[in-house]
Amino acid sequence: MARANVKMVPVPSTSIIPERDLYKLPVLETRHLGIDFGGLTAVENFDITIGRTEISGLIGPNGAGKTTVFNLLTKVYKPTRGTILLNGQDTADMNAVQVNKAGIARTFQNIRLFSNLTVEDNVRIGLHNSVQCGMFSSVFRLPRHWKSEREAHERALELLSIFHMEDLANHEAGSLPYGAQRRLEIVRALATNPSLLLLDEPAAGMNPSETAELMENIRKIRDTFQIAILLIEHDMNLVMGICEGIAVLNYGRIIAKGTPDEIQNNPQVIEAYLGKQKEG
Ligand SMILES: Nc1ncnc2c1ncn2[C@@H]1O[C@H](COP(=O)(O)OP(=O)(O)OP(=O)(O)O)[C@@H](O)[C@H]1O
Ligand SMILES: [Mg+2]
Repeated sequence: MARANVKMVPVPSTSIIPERDLYKLPVLETRHLGIDFGGLTAVENFDITIGRTEISGLIGPNGAGKTTVFNLLTKVYKPTRGTILLNGQDTADMNAVQVNKAGIARTFQNIRLFSNLTVEDNVRIGLHNSVQCGMFSSVFRLPRHWKSEREAHERALELLSIFHMEDLANHEAGSLPYGAQRRLEIVRALATNPSLLLLDEPAAGMNPSETAELMENIRKIRDTFQIAILLIEHDMNLVMGICEGIAVLNYGRIIAKGTPDEIQNNPQVIEAYLGKQKEG
């Protein structure tokens, strides 16, 4: 499988980021992030830095706290401890909608679409949250209402075309095959114009050819939009094939950070996760 040949460099918060992102503000930095649920510490001392155009992975056994990290970043949960800097801005006082507007979009481990609405309307719900700017406002010079309708329609189709789904625009979202629903969720997240896209197990339930296509599309999204992607995934072909930096979570704590090669050869990671994955 083709590997990205990228030089990773250390940064102060014990992370590595791609060299090309070194002199740009990191899209995300977390410091000592943690959350307790009653007596259970689900995440503790979660420190990562993600470069502006990095494809980054978060892996670890079931129940390690990976989805909880996404819920902290997106303010589904309020952190018990620690700091989240999104594009250098502390998100402590932001709610879920504000964090989305400030640049984080996500997909869910279990698909969450408006299944009775059309594919296009699902994307347009995402567009509704985005800061309206860029190409389309300058391309179309039309009366205000018509202009925004037309723009939203065109933009939705353009985003759907990433996954060659524009012909499905009028289909009911719930009627799509599973893989297409997962792709639609990614399109809807992109419609909010994020600088950081969080994907929670995007390949779950996909067959190998869909997964291979997804890998290419994740790269394409990063290249086209010049955004960062943080993905949770149990499919190690996908993780090792496209992630530039990887953090491994075990019992709520990061036990390793590194390149795919470093992670695959880390005895602690093999013991806690990778070895068990192969057995399973
Ligand atoms: N709202 C909550 N209340 C109590 N405990 C919670 C809550 N959310 C998560 N947890 C607990 O936090 C831990 C981490 O769960 P999380 O869903 O983040 O794991 P995960 O790494 O995403 O696992 P998987 O790979 O199975 O998706 C688990 O022990 C879970 O039961
Ligand atoms: Mg999870």
